[in-house]
Amino acid sequence: MVRIGKVAVGGAMLALTLAGTAVPASAASAQLTIDAGAAGPGINPTQFGHMIEDINHSVDGGLNANLVRNGTMKENAANPPAFWSVVTGGGGTGSLATDTAKPLNAANGSALKLSIAANGSGQRVGAANAGYFGIGVRPSTAYRVSFFAHADSGFTGPLTVSLESTGGTAYASATVASIGQSWRQYTATLTTSASAPVSTANRLVIAANATGAGHSVWLDVVTCYPPTAAGPGAFRADLVQKLAATAPGFLRLPGGNFLEGTTVATRFDWKATLGPIQNRPGHQNDSWAYWSTDQTGILEYLELAEALHAQPLLAVYAGYSAGTNVVPQGELAPYIQDALDEIEYATGATDTTWGARRAADGHPAPFDVAYVEIGNEDNFDHSGSYDAYRYPMFYDAIRAAYPKLKIVATTKVTSRPMDVIDDHFYNSAPSWFTGQAHRYDTTSRTGPKHLIGEYAVRNAPKGNPTGTLAAAVGEAGFMVGLVRNADVVIGAAYAPALANVGGFQWNTNLIGFDASTSYGAPSYYVQQMFGTLHGDHVVASALTGADPTVSVVASRAGAGRTYLTVVNPTAAAVSTAVAVRGATVGATATATTLTGDPTAVNSIGKPNAVMPATSVVAVGGAFDYTFPANSVTVLQLPTDAVR
Ligand code: AHR
Repeated sequence: MVRIGKVAVGGAMLALTLAGTAVPASAASAQLTIDAGAAGPGINPTQFGHMIEDINHSVDGGLNANLVRNGTMKENAANPPAFWSVVTGGGGTGSLATDTAKPLNAANGSALKLSIAANGSGQRVGAANAGYFGIGVRPSTAYRVSFFAHADSGFTGPLTVSLESTGGTAYASATVASIGQSWRQYTATLTTSASAPVSTANRLVIAANATGAGHSVWLDVVTCYPPTAAGPGAFRADLVQKLAATAPGFLRLPGGNFLEGTTVATRFDWKATLGPIQNRPGHQNDSWAYWSTDQTGILEYLELAEALHAQPLLAVYAGYSAGTNVVPQGELAPYIQDALDEIEYATGATDTTWGARRAADGHPAPFDVAYVEIGNEDNFDHSGSYDAYRYPMFYDAIRAAYPKLKIVATTKVTSRPMDVIDDHFYNSAPSWFTGQAHRYDTTSRTGPKHLIGEYAVRNAPKGNPTGTLAAAVGEAGFMVGLVRNADVVIGAAYAPALANVGGFQWNTNLIGFDASTSYGAPSYYVQQMFGTLHGDHVVASALTGADPTVSVVASRAGAGRTYLTVVNPTAAAVSTAVAVRGATVGATATATTLTGDPTAVNSIGKPNAVMPATSVVAVGGAFDYTFPANSVTVLQLPTDAVR
């Protein structure tokens, strides 16, 4: 056996020589031949991406780094507002209520009224926000707080804003000197002490200390941001970093069922998501049963894609909301116009109406949108309206206005052409996915392209909220087939991408997070391997002598590297004699291997239980390699540049 770096390679008998060392000849049971000179399809820039919709608090309470839940006081129309509670100290007394008497503006009409009854020396009365399943606090970190407030005529302030444990230990505080009688925005910076623990059992408190007895203060649009990801938007840095590390080629946004809502009124109404956040009304995300502030609006979704160097794959509302809510043909025109306006907002020059609005919103440059999807999962519209009139009406309007855009249908139609059809696959069995490795081998090369807009092994053992290694390996087997068929499969997105472990609605997700930290599921590492370790075109490969569930794809980068991806979902290692033709292969390769106990999972507590390992291994024009049981392996073979 030859060992270079950390991983063992080779069979038992002598066959090749590395640096003068006799190595065993092949006793491999499988033969794998790569013809690096036999170029197959080009791998698309959009080959792997993500679906970003607000499910599992992946946006509000996730990507949107705002730590305050229900800062607009509208969630559940509750009184007092949900996720707020009164805080008193030293014998002070007071109460909270939802108050609509003096709205901040037309979009945000309900305020939090803090009524201070008794508040003498050494006392305090305030309002505490519980955050999204806690509030993440870190040491020596600056948090930006903003809120709108006014007070009655006898209240002179000040207010103290603090981040503190749920038990009342303050980690940071700042004072807002006085509150006037008209609505105004106030800001404060809270910098935590060096001794503040990394923790989530915390609250944000806005309180009057020893002042204001007999008076009231009103609050609205309260936000608190930790340092956010670089670039525009206010995105949570660790989650953006995790998405970026998969090198996504596209983001399918903004859903998913979130796009549709369960009623027309609760769809993602993109025009209501523009402008300063205090002017956004938000809406009930009834697909996933929580309030969406829409503080991540269409501009922020597009900016997220741009920050990730991913194409936005823009899904437009198409007159169908999950369930039975179909817009009649005679009433569809305004929704088509909304879609056209949305495309113009995303892509139009600044001398167009909506391009100018985008510029006014801070983003003069158009976004790089190549694909527009009409609706989401319209196969669930059993009325037949999608093929009968909705798809054709949207298609005709978009095609006429934007002839270069590729139009994605969400289910098969015959009334108009489909540039792309979006296939979704969820299945509880990893073996179902490995069994699909050849699904697109026989797809017509003259018909529509395919987008796999959502897929995942769901409900695998222990797959809640994130899945097992077995699930990840199953998905990898499927993905091998997607790469081999890159001429008909333009892209694929595991879904859902994100889940707040404190409150998720969907079993089995890619990235789990709480108010403070995050981790990738084993499936996440598969996405990362496929997203980052590939060439620019597929090359021929053939595997014989192995179990049929073992799958292989090879690709080559013109500049001189061939990537060999092997997925072994079986319980036995596969020793393989690898022969590379059509290129000269160097002596050593980098191997990236994801393997382990098929039931293993990662979690907030054990984020790195399943991780890929990287090592340097001996290779050449012919070499033996043992692919471990339950594994995904990528070998980066040094090959000469394509001439
Ligand atoms: O990804 C979760 C949900 O699954 C999406 O919102 C929907 O499109 C699909 O049914």
